[in-house]
Amino acid sequence: MTFAFLRLRSRLLTAQRHHARRVSVRYSPSLPPTLSKLAVLSSQPRGLSTAATLLRSMTIANPTYSAANPAVAPQPEDDGLAPPQLQDLYAANLTKTLTPQLKPLVPNRELVFGKTFSDHMLTTEWTASHGWAAPEIKPYGPLQLEPCASVFHYAFECFEGMKAYKDRQGHIRLFRPDMNMERMNRSVERISLPTFNPEEYLECIKELLRVEKRWIPDEYGYSLYIRPTMIGTEPCLGVRASNTALLYTICCPVGPYYATGFKAISLYANVREVRAWPGGSGDSKIGANYGPSVKPAKEAEQLGCQQVLWLIGEEHTVMEVGAMNLFIYWLNDQGQPELLTPALDGTILPGVTRDSIIQLAREWGGIQVTERSITMKEVVQAAEDQRLLEVFGAGTACIVSPVKRISYLGHDIHIPLDPKDPESQAGPLARRINETLLGIQYGDIPHKWSVLVD
Ligand SMILES: Cc1ncc(COP(=O)(O)O)c(C=O)c1O
Repeated sequence: MTFAFLRLRSRLLTAQRHHARRVSVRYSPSLPPTLSKLAVLSSQPRGLSTAATLLRSMTIANPTYSAANPAVAPQPEDDGLAPPQLQDLYAANLTKTLTPQLKPLVPNRELVFGKTFSDHMLTTEWTASHGWAAPEIKPYGPLQLEPCASVFHYAFECFEGMKAYKDRQGHIRLFRPDMNMERMNRSVERISLPTFNPEEYLECIKELLRVEKRWIPDEYGYSLYIRPTMIGTEPCLGVRASNTALLYTICCPVGPYYATGFKAISLYANVREVRAWPGGSGDSKIGANYGPSVKPAKEAEQLGCQQVLWLIGEEHTVMEVGAMNLFIYWLNDQGQPELLTPALDGTILPGVTRDSIIQLAREWGGIQVTERSITMKEVVQAAEDQRLLEVFGAGTACIVSPVKRISYLGHDIHIPLDPKDPESQAGPLARRINETLLGIQYGDIPHKWSVLVD
């Protein structure tokens, strides 16, 4: 009884300190009735304060401890009996402070990616001693961090990119958000930041979207970009895991990637810089992977290309296109149509769009879908043999980005778009994928991947 009581007490008091309103407590049927009552009470919405009051009125048969006498009560951290239990992240503890002054919306045509932010943000603090504090929705605004915070020195930062769509009935929809939450937790682990309960955090994001509904554009193709982010905030220059972290989510309305229809791009196959490498962190969405990609991207631009085609190794194995996954559609050695994409070997970001395209193409049939490493030699050979059908990048921002040319070692590899239409900026497969995924995202095509929020 004493031990169970102390553990429960530690849990409830920690939760209270973090302004939680309720806390889920797993308890066994053999727990004494008083403690069961406490556990049940504290799990009910806003039940924590009632449970805490009851807790304070209780005494237990322990000569050294009386809950009614806080002066001798051991603190959860130092009671020696009950290791402090870390508080998990619970959507039920979410608090909301709404801004008194809403910002004016920006007309859809004037939206520039990542420049306009909605009225509120979702923030949740974590400490190594207590775990997650209650999540909060509050007005969007600057963060206050010490200059020595670990995020500023050793890039303890990771993020996600997902979108909320408004369907024709005006409902908010998300596209496979569970995949973003899981990927975020994998990124978080890679840089020793604290993981969180993905379902609970997704519920918090959904609530943020309900609050920010007016920021989700009505027009087809427009959406609200969601940027969950986690940073290490500990004020310490030691190169070690941060003892404090901040998980936050901000939102910005965005327009369609191709405002006036597809525009096929040219790639600069970079044989000098490498985006990721075996044993590295290329499969995580950590900020440290992105900063160094900008210099090669600028060089590609100077050479008349819109994106870098990332390569690795002496054989120039293809990896990704800018911040997109790469797909090559060709006729293979047996003359069969095959959709190829680099395998997830730890150097490739496991894109939500990538996974969706693979699943769709397999369901459609008629195309062999293969995940394997692909070398530039194979791409050059396929182009010479006129076996290349389409090449495209894939990601949340654009869904698909058709490629018309690859600049490689001073030569241009020309990629067909639509052989039936010389004006076309996309091949038939890229178009079909784009239309299908758009249809699912906006709820026009009923599909389990589209998650209704309201
Ligand atoms: C490096 C990289 N590859 C691929 C992708 C595409 O991933 P997703 O389809 O989940 O947007 C992204 C975008 O997040 C990326 O940053």
